[in-house]
Amino acid sequence: MPFGDTTSAVGHSESAAEHSASSDKSDSGVSSAQRLSREANLLVEVGRGVVNRVDELTDHPGQVAAELGGSMLIGAGLALAQGKAGVAREVAQIVGASMTASFALTSARQLEVAKNSIENTWKNPTGENREAKNAANTFGAFIADTAIFSAGGIVGVKVARNSSVYMGVHHSIDKALGIRTQEQHAQLRQQMLGYHPLTAHHQDRVGDMSRIIAEGMRLPPASVEKAFLAGKMHDIGKLKTPTEILNSPGKLDGHERAVINHHATDTGVILKEKVDYPKRLADLPTVAQNHHERLDGRGSPNQLSAEQIAVETRVNTVADVFDVLSHSRSYKAPTPVAKLIDVFEGGRGTQFDGKVLDAFLHQPASKVLPLMLSEGGNISRVAPTFKKVEIGDLLRSVKDHKPVPGSSVTTDQINLFNTLYLGTQ
Ligand SMILES: [Fe+2]
Repeated sequence: MPFGDTTSAVGHSESAAEHSASSDKSDSGVSSAQRLSREANLLVEVGRGVVNRVDELTDHPGQVAAELGGSMLIGAGLALAQGKAGVAREVAQIVGASMTASFALTSARQLEVAKNSIENTWKNPTGENREAKNAANTFGAFIADTAIFSAGGIVGVKVARNSSVYMGVHHSIDKALGIRTQEQHAQLRQQMLGYHPLTAHHQDRVGDMSRIIAEGMRLPPASVEKAFLAGKMHDIGKLKTPTEILNSPGKLDGHERAVINHHATDTGVILKEKVDYPKRLADLPTVAQNHHERLDGRGSPNQLSAEQIAVETRVNTVADVFDVLSHSRSYKAPTPVAKLIDVFEGGRGTQFDGKVLDAFLHQPASKVLPLMLSEGGNISRVAPTFKKVEIGDLLRSVKDHKPVPGSSVTTDQINLFNTLYLGTQ
Protein backbone atom coordinates (compact mmCIF):
# COMPACT_ATOMS: atom_id res chain seq x y z
CA MET A 1 0.00 0.00 0.00
CA PRO A 2 1.59 3.25 -1.07
CA PHE A 3 0.58 5.34 1.92
CA GLY A 4 1.97 2.82 4.38
CA ASP A 5 5.23 2.57 2.52
CA THR A 6 5.62 6.27 2.11
CA THR A 7 4.82 7.01 5.72
CA SER A 8 7.35 4.50 6.95
CA ALA A 9 9.90 6.00 4.59
CA VAL A 10 9.30 9.35 6.22
CA GLY A 11 9.75 7.64 9.55
CA HIS A 12 13.22 6.59 8.51
CA SER A 13 14.02 10.05 7.35
CA GLU A 14 13.03 11.50 10.67
CA SER A 15 15.34 9.17 12.49
CA ALA A 16 18.09 10.13 10.06
CA ALA A 17 17.48 13.74 10.92
CA GLU A 18 17.52 12.85 14.61
CA HIS A 19 20.94 11.29 14.20
CA SER A 20 22.13 14.31 12.34
CA ALA A 21 21.58 16.46 15.40
CA SER A 22 24.30 14.59 17.23
CA SER A 23 26.48 13.96 14.24
CA ASP A 24 29.07 16.52 15.20
CA LYS A 25 30.34 14.15 17.88
CA SER A 26 32.89 11.70 16.64
CA ASP A 27 32.01 8.02 16.75
CA SER A 28 34.31 5.01 16.89
CA GLY A 29 35.15 3.90 13.37
CA VAL A 30 32.81 6.27 11.57
CA SER A 31 33.75 9.90 11.15
CA SER A 32 31.10 12.51 11.65
CA ALA A 33 31.59 13.66 8.04
CA GLN A 34 30.91 10.13 6.78
CA ARG A 35 27.81 9.79 8.91
CA LEU A 36 26.50 13.16 7.78
CA SER A 37 27.04 12.24 4.19
CA ARG A 38 25.26 8.88 4.66
CA GLU A 39 22.31 10.54 6.34
CA ALA A 40 22.16 13.27 3.73
CA ASN A 41 22.09 10.64 0.99
CA LEU A 42 19.38 8.71 2.80
CA LEU A 43 17.19 11.80 3.06
CA VAL A 44 17.65 12.64 -0.61
CA GLU A 45 16.96 9.02 -1.55
CA VAL A 46 13.78 8.85 0.52
CA GLY A 47 12.65 12.21 -0.85
CA ARG A 48 13.17 11.03 -4.40
CA GLY A 49 11.31 7.81 -3.60
CA VAL A 50 8.33 9.78 -2.33
CA VAL A 51 8.31 12.18 -5.28
CA ASN A 52 8.56 9.31 -7.75
CA ARG A 53 5.53 7.63 -6.22
CA VAL A 54 3.26 10.66 -6.15
CA ASP A 55 1.21 9.24 -9.01
CA GLU A 56 0.30 6.20 -6.93
CA LEU A 57 -1.72 8.37 -4.59
CA THR A 58 -5.30 8.70 -5.66
CA ASP A 59 -6.38 11.85 -3.87
CA HIS A 60 -5.32 15.37 -4.59
CA PRO A 61 -4.23 16.57 -1.15
CA GLY A 62 -2.23 13.39 -0.72
CA GLN A 63 -0.46 14.06 -4.01
CA VAL A 64 0.24 17.66 -3.15
CA ALA A 65 1.52 16.75 0.28
CA ALA A 66 3.65 13.91 -1.02
CA GLU A 67 5.12 15.99 -3.81
CA LEU A 68 5.90 18.85 -1.52
CA GLY A 69 7.00 16.58 1.31
CA GLY A 70 9.29 14.59 -0.96
CA SER A 71 10.83 17.76 -2.32
CA MET A 72 11.36 19.03 1.21
CA LEU A 73 13.06 15.80 2.22
CA ILE A 74 15.44 16.24 -0.69
CA GLY A 75 15.98 19.79 0.52
CA ALA A 76 16.68 18.47 4.03
CA GLY A 77 19.25 16.05 2.60
CA LEU A 78 20.95 18.83 0.72
CA ALA A 79 20.96 21.04 3.81
CA LEU A 80 22.54 18.19 5.76
CA ALA A 81 25.13 17.64 3.05
CA GLN A 82 26.09 21.28 3.43
CA GLY A 83 26.54 20.83 7.16
CA LYS A 84 23.27 22.52 8.13
CA ALA A 85 22.03 19.76 10.41
CA GLY A 86 19.62 22.03 12.28
CA VAL A 87 17.84 23.08 9.11
CA ALA A 88 17.69 19.49 7.88
CA ARG A 89 16.20 18.26 11.15
CA GLU A 90 13.57 20.98 11.19
CA VAL A 91 12.52 20.34 7.61
CA ALA A 92 12.34 16.57 8.10
CA GLN A 93 10.14 17.00 11.16
CA ILE A 94 7.77 19.32 9.36
CA VAL A 95 7.49 16.87 6.52
CA GLY A 96 7.02 13.88 8.80
CA ALA A 97 4.28 15.50 10.82
CA SER A 98 2.42 17.03 7.91
CA MET A 99 2.55 13.94 5.75
CA THR A 100 1.31 11.76 8.56
CA ALA A 101 -1.59 14.12 9.07
CA SER A 102 -2.38 14.27 5.42
CA PHE A 103 -2.29 10.51 4.96
CA ALA A 104 -4.56 10.02 7.94
CA LEU A 105 -7.01 12.39 6.31
CA THR A 106 -6.72 10.61 3.04
CA SER A 107 -7.70 7.24 4.42
CA ALA A 108 -10.42 8.59 6.69
CA ARG A 109 -12.04 10.89 4.18
CA GLN A 110 -14.26 12.33 6.86
CA LEU A 111 -14.27 15.88 8.03
CA GLU A 112 -14.46 14.92 11.68
CA VAL A 113 -11.42 12.67 11.48
CA ALA A 114 -9.67 15.29 9.43
CA LYS A 115 -10.22 17.95 12.04
CA ASN A 116 -9.05 15.70 14.87
CA SER A 117 -5.98 14.71 12.98
CA ILE A 118 -5.11 18.29 12.22
CA GLU A 119 -5.73 19.34 15.78
CA ASN A 120 -3.60 16.53 17.14
CA THR A 121 -0.79 17.35 14.82
CA TRP A 122 -0.87 21.10 14.70
CA LYS A 123 -2.93 22.53 17.53
CA ASN A 124 -1.78 20.29 20.38
CA PRO A 125 1.59 18.98 19.39
CA THR A 126 3.32 16.60 21.71
CA GLY A 127 6.84 15.23 21.85
CA GLU A 128 8.78 15.85 18.69
CA ASN A 129 5.86 17.58 17.04
CA ARG A 130 6.00 20.35 19.62
CA GLU A 131 9.37 21.41 18.34
CA ALA A 132 8.11 21.44 14.80
CA LYS A 133 5.06 23.53 15.61
CA ASN A 134 6.50 26.98 15.19
CA ALA A 135 8.52 26.24 12.15
CA ALA A 136 5.62 24.33 10.66
CA ASN A 137 3.02 26.95 11.35
CA THR A 138 2.61 28.28 7.85
CA PHE A 139 3.16 25.01 6.13
CA GLY A 140 0.89 23.16 8.51
CA ALA A 141 -1.91 25.65 8.02
CA PHE A 142 -1.61 25.19 4.32
CA ILE A 143 -1.78 21.39 4.51
CA ALA A 144 -4.64 21.60 6.96
CA ASP A 145 -6.59 23.92 4.67
CA THR A 146 -6.04 21.62 1.75
CA ALA A 147 -7.14 18.62 3.76
CA ILE A 148 -10.27 20.29 5.09
CA PHE A 149 -11.24 21.31 1.60
CA SER A 150 -10.84 17.79 0.38
CA ALA A 151 -12.49 16.10 3.33
CA GLY A 152 -15.42 18.47 2.99
CA GLY A 153 -15.87 17.35 -0.59
CA ILE A 154 -14.25 20.39 -2.13
CA VAL A 155 -11.26 19.76 -4.28
CA GLY A 156 -8.48 21.67 -2.63
CA VAL A 157 -5.75 20.99 -5.07
CA LYS A 158 -6.33 24.16 -7.06
CA VAL A 159 -6.14 26.23 -3.95
CA ALA A 160 -3.03 24.39 -2.90
CA ARG A 161 -1.30 24.74 -6.22
CA ASN A 162 -2.03 28.47 -6.32
CA SER A 163 -1.08 28.96 -2.73
CA SER A 164 1.80 31.33 -2.36
CA VAL A 165 3.18 29.10 0.40
CA TYR A 166 3.26 26.12 -1.93
CA MET A 167 4.75 28.10 -4.77
CA GLY A 168 7.24 29.83 -2.51
CA VAL A 169 8.50 26.62 -0.91
CA HIS A 170 8.64 24.90 -4.25
CA HIS A 171 10.47 27.75 -5.86
CA SER A 172 13.21 27.82 -3.26
CA ILE A 173 13.62 24.04 -3.31
CA ASP A 174 13.67 24.08 -7.09
CA LYS A 175 16.38 26.70 -6.99
CA ALA A 176 18.45 24.68 -4.53
CA LEU A 177 17.99 21.56 -6.63
CA GLY A 178 18.97 23.46 -9.79
CA ILE A 179 22.31 24.30 -8.20
CA ARG A 180 22.69 20.67 -7.11
CA THR A 181 21.89 19.51 -10.66
CA GLN A 182 24.67 21.64 -12.08
CA GLU A 183 27.12 20.29 -9.50
CA GLN A 184 26.21 16.73 -10.43
CA HIS A 185 26.49 17.54 -14.15
CA ALA A 186 29.93 19.02 -13.47
CA GLN A 187 31.00 15.75 -11.80
CA LEU A 188 29.82 13.73 -14.80
CA ARG A 189 31.64 16.11 -17.14
CA GLN A 190 34.86 15.64 -15.15
CA GLN A 191 34.40 11.89 -15.48
CA MET A 192 33.98 12.19 -19.26
CA LEU A 193 37.02 14.50 -19.51
CA GLY A 194 39.09 11.74 -17.92
CA TYR A 195 37.53 8.96 -19.98
CA HIS A 196 37.17 10.48 -23.45
CA PRO A 197 38.10 14.18 -23.75
CA LEU A 198 36.89 14.45 -27.35
CA THR A 199 33.37 13.51 -26.26
CA ALA A 200 33.53 15.88 -23.28
CA HIS A 201 34.45 18.82 -25.53
CA HIS A 202 31.84 17.79 -28.09
CA GLN A 203 29.16 17.83 -25.38
CA ASP A 204 30.28 21.25 -24.17
CA ARG A 205 29.94 22.70 -27.67
CA VAL A 206 26.60 21.01 -28.34
CA GLY A 207 25.26 22.52 -25.11
CA ASP A 208 26.51 25.99 -26.06
CA MET A 209 25.18 25.70 -29.61
CA SER A 210 21.82 24.43 -28.33
CA ARG A 211 21.50 27.51 -26.17
CA ILE A 212 22.27 29.79 -29.12
CA ILE A 213 19.65 28.04 -31.27
CA ALA A 214 17.00 27.89 -28.51
CA GLU A 215 17.45 31.59 -27.81
CA GLY A 216 17.25 32.26 -31.55
CA MET A 217 13.90 30.43 -31.56
CA ARG A 218 12.79 32.60 -28.64
CA LEU A 219 11.90 29.54 -26.59
CA PRO A 220 10.90 30.21 -22.96
CA PRO A 221 13.86 30.51 -20.54
CA ALA A 222 13.07 27.10 -18.98
CA SER A 223 13.31 25.46 -22.42
CA VAL A 224 16.54 27.28 -23.23
CA GLU A 225 18.01 26.04 -19.96
CA LYS A 226 16.84 22.47 -20.65
CA ALA A 227 18.20 22.42 -24.20
CA PHE A 228 21.52 23.80 -22.92
CA LEU A 229 21.88 21.30 -20.06
CA ALA A 230 20.64 18.32 -22.10
CA GLY A 231 23.12 19.22 -24.85
CA LYS A 232 25.94 19.24 -22.30
CA MET A 233 25.02 15.71 -21.20
CA HIS A 234 23.55 14.10 -24.33
CA ASP A 235 26.45 11.67 -24.93
CA ILE A 236 27.22 10.92 -21.27
CA GLY A 237 26.11 7.31 -22.00
CA LYS A 238 29.41 6.92 -23.87
CA LEU A 239 31.02 6.48 -20.45
CA LYS A 240 29.80 2.91 -20.93
CA THR A 241 31.16 2.56 -24.50
CA PRO A 242 34.64 0.96 -24.64
CA THR A 243 37.27 3.49 -25.76
CA GLU A 244 38.54 1.09 -28.46
CA ILE A 245 35.18 1.56 -30.16
CA LEU A 246 35.06 5.32 -29.54
CA ASN A 247 38.58 5.66 -31.00
CA SER A 248 38.23 3.16 -33.83
CA PRO A 249 39.90 4.59 -36.95
CA GLY A 250 37.86 2.53 -39.42
CA LYS A 251 34.31 1.51 -40.16
CA LEU A 252 32.62 -0.23 -37.25
CA ASP A 253 31.31 -3.78 -37.67
CA GLY A 254 27.72 -4.73 -36.81
CA HIS A 255 28.47 -5.64 -33.21
CA GLU A 256 30.53 -2.49 -32.57
CA ARG A 257 27.79 -0.36 -34.10
CA ALA A 258 25.20 -1.95 -31.80
CA VAL A 259 27.44 -1.24 -28.79
CA ILE A 260 27.95 2.43 -29.70
CA ASN A 261 24.28 2.90 -30.56
CA HIS A 262 23.43 1.91 -27.01
CA HIS A 263 24.98 5.12 -25.67
CA ALA A 264 21.75 7.08 -26.13
CA THR A 265 19.80 4.73 -23.86
CA ASP A 266 22.70 4.75 -21.39
CA THR A 267 22.56 8.55 -21.31
CA GLY A 268 19.01 8.34 -19.95
CA VAL A 269 19.94 5.65 -17.44
CA ILE A 270 23.00 7.49 -16.09
CA LEU A 271 21.23 10.84 -15.75
CA LYS A 272 18.26 9.27 -13.97
CA GLU A 273 20.58 7.43 -11.59
CA LYS A 274 23.14 10.11 -10.87
CA VAL A 275 21.37 13.45 -11.00
CA ASP A 276 18.63 15.07 -8.91
CA TYR A 277 16.57 17.31 -11.15
CA PRO A 278 14.21 20.05 -10.04
CA LYS A 279 10.70 19.70 -11.36
CA ARG A 280 11.22 22.03 -14.30
CA LEU A 281 14.02 19.74 -15.55
CA ALA A 282 12.41 16.43 -14.60
CA ASP A 283 12.30 15.12 -18.19
CA LEU A 284 15.89 16.15 -19.01
CA PRO A 285 17.18 12.53 -19.07
CA THR A 286 14.56 11.71 -21.72
CA VAL A 287 15.25 14.89 -23.69
CA ALA A 288 18.96 14.02 -23.72
CA GLN A 289 18.59 10.33 -24.55
CA ASN A 290 16.37 11.03 -27.58
CA HIS A 291 18.98 13.00 -29.54
CA HIS A 292 19.27 10.32 -32.25
CA GLU A 293 15.52 10.09 -32.84
CA ARG A 294 14.20 11.47 -36.14
CA LEU A 295 10.99 13.30 -36.98
CA ASP A 296 10.14 10.61 -39.55
CA GLY A 297 10.34 7.82 -36.96
CA ARG A 298 13.49 6.25 -38.42
CA GLY A 299 15.80 7.24 -35.59
CA SER A 300 17.07 5.34 -32.58
CA PRO A 301 16.75 3.89 -30.04
CA ASN A 302 12.93 4.00 -29.89
CA GLN A 303 11.84 5.15 -33.36
CA LEU A 304 9.85 8.03 -31.88
CA SER A 305 8.15 10.36 -34.33
CA ALA A 306 7.59 14.09 -34.59
CA GLU A 307 5.18 14.89 -31.78
CA GLN A 308 6.91 12.48 -29.42
CA ILE A 309 10.21 14.35 -29.65
CA ALA A 310 10.55 17.38 -27.37
CA VAL A 311 11.52 20.69 -28.94
CA GLU A 312 14.66 20.77 -26.76
CA THR A 313 15.71 17.40 -28.22
CA ARG A 314 15.16 18.72 -31.76
CA VAL A 315 17.46 21.62 -30.91
CA ASN A 316 20.09 19.20 -29.54
CA THR A 317 19.89 17.09 -32.71
CA VAL A 318 20.73 19.99 -35.04
CA ALA A 319 23.52 21.18 -32.72
CA ASP A 320 24.87 17.62 -32.40
CA VAL A 321 24.98 16.80 -36.12
CA PHE A 322 26.50 20.20 -36.92
CA ASP A 323 29.25 19.66 -34.39
CA VAL A 324 30.02 16.10 -35.51
CA LEU A 325 30.22 17.18 -39.17
CA SER A 326 32.35 20.25 -38.57
CA HIS A 327 34.93 18.51 -36.36
CA SER A 328 37.35 15.69 -36.87
CA ARG A 329 36.76 12.24 -35.45
CA SER A 330 39.03 9.20 -35.17
CA TYR A 331 37.57 8.04 -38.49
CA LYS A 332 37.20 11.32 -40.42
CA ALA A 333 38.36 14.90 -40.99
CA PRO A 334 35.88 17.80 -40.75
CA THR A 335 33.25 17.35 -43.44
CA PRO A 336 33.54 19.66 -46.49
CA VAL A 337 31.07 22.54 -46.27
CA ALA A 338 29.24 21.53 -49.45
CA LYS A 339 28.41 18.14 -48.00
CA LEU A 340 27.53 19.64 -44.62
CA ILE A 341 24.92 21.91 -46.21
CA ASP A 342 23.53 18.96 -48.20
CA VAL A 343 23.12 16.87 -45.04
CA PHE A 344 21.07 19.59 -43.37
CA GLU A 345 18.93 20.52 -46.34
CA GLY A 346 18.45 16.83 -47.25
CA GLY A 347 17.25 16.07 -43.72
CA ARG A 348 14.88 19.02 -43.41
CA GLY A 349 11.52 17.78 -42.13
CA THR A 350 12.66 14.15 -41.88
CA GLN A 351 15.69 14.18 -39.60
CA PHE A 352 15.63 17.84 -38.59
CA ASP A 353 12.86 20.19 -37.53
CA GLY A 354 12.68 22.96 -40.16
CA LYS A 355 12.04 25.65 -37.55
CA VAL A 356 15.12 24.62 -35.57
CA LEU A 357 17.19 24.44 -38.73
CA ASP A 358 16.10 27.93 -39.82
CA ALA A 359 16.83 29.38 -36.38
CA PHE A 360 20.32 27.89 -36.65
CA LEU A 361 20.98 29.09 -40.21
CA HIS A 362 19.91 32.64 -39.33
CA GLN A 363 22.37 32.95 -36.43
CA PRO A 364 25.17 35.50 -36.82
CA ALA A 365 28.26 33.65 -38.04
CA SER A 366 30.25 35.49 -35.35
CA LYS A 367 28.40 33.41 -32.72
CA VAL A 368 28.66 30.04 -34.49
CA LEU A 369 32.23 30.15 -35.80
CA PRO A 370 34.00 30.10 -32.41
CA LEU A 371 32.27 26.75 -31.78
CA MET A 372 32.60 25.46 -35.34
CA LEU A 373 36.31 26.30 -35.64
CA SER A 374 37.27 25.43 -32.09
CA GLU A 375 39.94 22.99 -33.29
CA GLY A 376 41.62 25.72 -35.33
CA GLY A 377 42.83 27.73 -32.36
CA ASN A 378 41.50 30.96 -30.94
CA ILE A 379 39.42 32.69 -33.58
CA SER A 380 37.93 35.31 -31.29
CA ARG A 381 40.08 37.94 -33.01
CA VAL A 382 38.47 37.38 -36.39
CA ALA A 383 34.96 36.35 -35.29
CA PRO A 384 33.67 39.97 -35.13
CA THR A 385 34.44 40.22 -38.86
CA PHE A 386 31.46 37.91 -39.39
CA LYS A 387 29.06 39.79 -37.13
CA LYS A 388 26.68 40.95 -39.84
CA VAL A 389 26.63 37.65 -41.74
CA GLU A 390 24.24 34.77 -41.12
CA ILE A 391 25.90 31.36 -40.80
CA GLY A 392 23.52 29.86 -43.41
CA ASP A 393 24.45 32.53 -45.98
CA LEU A 394 28.15 32.13 -45.22
CA LEU A 395 28.09 28.32 -45.58
CA ARG A 396 26.05 28.45 -48.80
CA SER A 397 28.44 31.07 -50.20
CA VAL A 398 31.40 28.87 -49.31
CA LYS A 399 29.68 25.96 -51.05
CA ASP A 400 29.03 28.06 -54.20
CA HIS A 401 32.50 29.69 -54.09
CA LYS A 402 30.80 33.09 -54.38
CA PRO A 403 28.51 35.27 -52.23
CA VAL A 404 24.90 34.04 -52.46
CA PRO A 405 22.57 36.68 -53.92
CA GLY A 406 20.85 38.89 -51.36
CA SER A 407 23.38 38.17 -48.63
CA SER A 408 26.00 40.50 -47.23
CA VAL A 409 28.75 37.88 -47.52
CA THR A 410 31.96 39.11 -49.17
CA THR A 411 34.60 37.22 -51.14
CA ASP A 412 37.12 38.13 -48.44
CA GLN A 413 34.93 36.44 -45.83
CA ILE A 414 34.65 33.28 -47.96
CA ASN A 415 38.45 33.17 -48.30
CA LEU A 416 39.00 33.83 -44.61
CA PHE A 417 36.51 31.11 -43.67
CA ASN A 418 38.18 28.61 -46.00
CA THR A 419 41.60 29.34 -44.50
CA LEU A 420 40.26 28.88 -40.99
CA TYR A 421 38.24 25.77 -41.78
CA LEU A 422 41.04 24.13 -43.75
CA GLY A 423 43.28 24.87 -40.77
CA THR A 424 41.14 22.46 -38.76
CA GLN A 425 41.70 19.56 -41.16
FE1 LIG B 1 25.05 10.70 -29.51
